Formats: sequence, C-alpha cells, structure tokens
Amino acid sequence: MNAAAEPILRVQGLRKNYGGVPALQGVDLEVARGEVCGLIGPNGSGKSTLFDCCTGLQKSDGGRVVLKGTDITGWAMNRIAREGRLLRSFQKTVVFPTMDCEENLVLAGQMARFPGVASTFSIGRASRRRVAALRERARELIEVSGLSRVAHLPAGNLSGGQQKLLQFASMLMPEPEIVLLDEPLAGINPILIERVIQCIESANRQFGITFLIIEHNTDVLMNLSHRVIVLHQGQKLADDTPAAIVRNPQVVEAYLGG
Ligand SMILES: Nc1ncnc2c1ncn2[C@@H]1O[C@H](COP(=O)(O)OP(=O)(O)OP(=O)(O)O)[C@@H](O)[C@H]1O
Ligand SMILES: [Mg+2]
Repeated sequence: MNAAAEPILRVQGLRKNYGGVPALQGVDLEVARGEVCGLIGPNGSGKSTLFDCCTGLQKSDGGRVVLKGTDITGWAMNRIAREGRLLRSFQKTVVFPTMDCEENLVLAGQMARFPGVASTFSIGRASRRRVAALRERARELIEVSGLSRVAHLPAGNLSGGQQKLLQFASMLMPEPEIVLLDEPLAGINPILIERVIQCIESANRQFGITFLIIEHNTDVLMNLSHRVIVLHQGQKLADDTPAAIVRNPQVVEAYLGG
C-alpha cells in the first residue's frame, strides 16, 4: 500500500468486555492522516472504551489496533504515547499552579520526551538547546491557544477555562501526530467553546495533527469534523460525512433523536 494512503489509525474487529458487559463488539474504523474525525453515539455505546483500548489504558479482548502501519495491540500506554506519538486528553484539568504558562508548557514538553527527573532538570549545553526549542514551541502554542494576555500569570490564577486551554496546549508540546479528545467541550461556556474549536482547527492546519474527537455537542462536532463515525451498542452504526450522518435515519433514531 502507498504510505500516504495508509491510515494513521486503523482499528480492526476490536472487542472489549467488562465482566459480562460487551462494551465493544468487533469495531472496525480508520482515521486518515490530517483528518478531524468525530466519534458519536449514545451513552454507554463504547466510545471511551475505544479510546482506552487504542491508548493502551485497557487491554482489548480481540481485534487489532494499527498505528501508522504498526500493530500496537497490547503495547503499554507510555510506549504508545512516546513511540506512537498518540496522545489523549484527560478529563481533569491539571496545571502547575505556581508556574506561568510558558513554564508549564516547557515542563510538559520535558516530561513527555525525557521522563526521567534527572534529565528534566539537567543542565548543560544540549539541555539548554532543548529547553530553548521547547520555549519556542511553548510561545507558539500560547499564541495558538489565545493565552498571550495571561501567559505571565501563575497558572493557578487563570480561570478554569484558561487552565483547560493551557492543558490542551500542554498536550501539543510533545508534538503528537494524533490526538484523541474525549468530550473536550463538556462543562465549558460558549465563549470558551469557540476558543477550543479554534485551537483544534489551528493545531490541525498549522501542525498537521490528526484528531479523533468524542463529543456530545453534535452541532459543534458536525462543523468541526471532516467525517463522523457513529457507535451504537459497541458496534459501528455509520461512518460518513457530517451532512450524510445528520440525514441518516438509523443515526437519527439511535442517537440524534427528533
Ligand atoms: N472500567 C469499566 N468497568 C466496567 N464497565 C465499564 C467500564 N468502562 C466502561 N464500562 C461499560 O462499558 C460500556 C461502554 O462504556 P463507555 O464508557 O465506553 O461508553 P461511552 O460511549 O463513552 O459513553 P458516554 O457517552 O456516557 O461517555 C458501558 O456499558 C459501561 O458501563
Ligand atoms: Mg465516554
């Protein structure tokens, strides 16, 4: 297969049971490099479980996860993040409260790429060069996430929404190739929703990052996504353009409602 045509993420026949509960019942899906792909479905349809199995947080019971042509099924989470450059958002916002935005971002970049404490705080010429490069990326991401005005403040003094944006920027510091976002808009106000959308779009266009996004705010997701996949009871129900998905009678019945 032509390397350019190889999907960045390919899930084949993925199965996962929790005790007697079948959360995923043989799901196949593909995400193309550079795509923003939406993942929707009713509560309990297996969306987060799919993320858990792709990121190595949960072991699947069957099927394969192929990342950039490499079978990563069963790989540990850290290895998938570091070698596979696949990252996932955390629901809880965590920032270092006494550090400003740039310091938070530089530390996020250091910890992701050089996880040892010694290397994180090491000094020397190579280390200084590395930090300078991280600072440059941090400034770029502060710009992208619209935090320039508050970048000098200790992160603990930022609003909850601004902290969320800072965390989003932190996730982009280690230069991931694909990012899985689980309900990035949950519990945030309309102005901030706009900002998060802009961040995702800029990260996609400027850095070519691929996104797979779970989101119950379907209006926003339909606008943001190039393609939308629908899960229902642990199975794929539909996979199409947003325009076709909103008109699909099965999807309307199972999820979008009347
Ligand atoms: N850690 C777990 N232990 C036991 N059962 C689980 C676990 N995680 C998920 N499940 C079950 O697996 C099924 C799929 O859950 P999952 O969280 O993947 O759904 P979801 O599509 O993300 O739903 P939501 O939209 O509510 O977040 C559900 O029946 C859920 O109760
Ligand atoms: Mg979920």
